[in-house]
Amino acid sequence: MSSPAVRKDDGNACEGAASRGALFACYGARSLIPAGFGNRNGVYAVEYMHVSIDLRRKVTSLIALRGVSKVYGSGIFALSQVDLDIRKGEFVFVVGPSGAGKSTLIKLLYREETPTEGQVVVGGKDLSKIRRRDVPYLRRKIGVVFQDIKLLEDRTVGENVAFALRVTGYAGRDVAKRVSQVLSLVGLKDRQDGYPPELSGGEQQRVAIARALVRNPDLLLADEPSGNLDPATSAEIFKLMERANMYGTTVVVATHARHIVDSMRKRVVELKKGAVVRDVRRGAYDY
Ligand SMILES: Nc1ncnc2c1ncn2[C@@H]1O[C@H](COP(=O)(O)OP(=O)(O)OP(=O)(O)O)[C@@H](O)[C@H]1O
Ligand SMILES: [Mg+2]
Repeated sequence: MSSPAVRKDDGNACEGAASRGALFACYGARSLIPAGFGNRNGVYAVEYMHVSIDLRRKVTSLIALRGVSKVYGSGIFALSQVDLDIRKGEFVFVVGPSGAGKSTLIKLLYREETPTEGQVVVGGKDLSKIRRRDVPYLRRKIGVVFQDIKLLEDRTVGENVAFALRVTGYAGRDVAKRVSQVLSLVGLKDRQDGYPPELSGGEQQRVAIARALVRNPDLLLADEPSGNLDPATSAEIFKLMERANMYGTTVVVATHARHIVDSMRKRVVELKKGAVVRDVRRGAYDY
């Protein structure tokens, strides 16, 4: 894919070829030029990006689970013979009652847990075959957001986000630029120098999302990201994840947020007692 159409944007963040990195960079720029506003060239670039994402979606499964079971020490089957395919670019809700295995499924995807039986393949790699020392490389391409936000309280918002980048080897001006792009994306650029305890729960969760997105992940995993938030703030958090998804990041979210699942109409995978009992496109929380 050639770059001229991308360069038609405002010329800063969108410069370069329509590679995965450029898509992410444009995503910050897009928030500055929302479709329908901004200059004509900017909108054109946004449309161009949608085309490139559609092409990417045809590629392959990003996630493939084959006959996956997970038995914890207690002898409980948290997951039982799960088969699941998630393609690049999908947005998937994982729902089900408490204890159904949702968190276990998410943990298998970033190798926090390993399956007792079966195969978990992410980005073409069988996660039970990768060496322990290679796990950090896998996680560079995965952003994770939890209910329990876990920000460093004695570091500024900007430093919290920058930290996630520095551990992957970014340095200097690159870090500052990307941190500021991603904080603009989540609407917190003006809080960059503040500290997490000065932020509301919803704002802290937005920082956590910025931290997960700053590495430009192929995959965003979230486990109850809106667990402690009011309905309006939860909706904002899911909108941010939807925006990341629009620009190519595959999103898998475990949630009990019924209203949000019902309103967003994405793919819904329902677990019960460790088994997939429903998997529908444009689904709802219940049947
Ligand atoms: N570390 C663990 N050790 C032993 N059993 C565990 C462990 N983690 C989870 N389990 C058990 O595995 C089952 C699935 O748990 P999991 O946390 O995946 O459920 P969940 O769907 O995320 O539930 P919730 O909606 O309450 O978060 C439960 O019976 C749970 O008690
Ligand atoms: Mg859970």
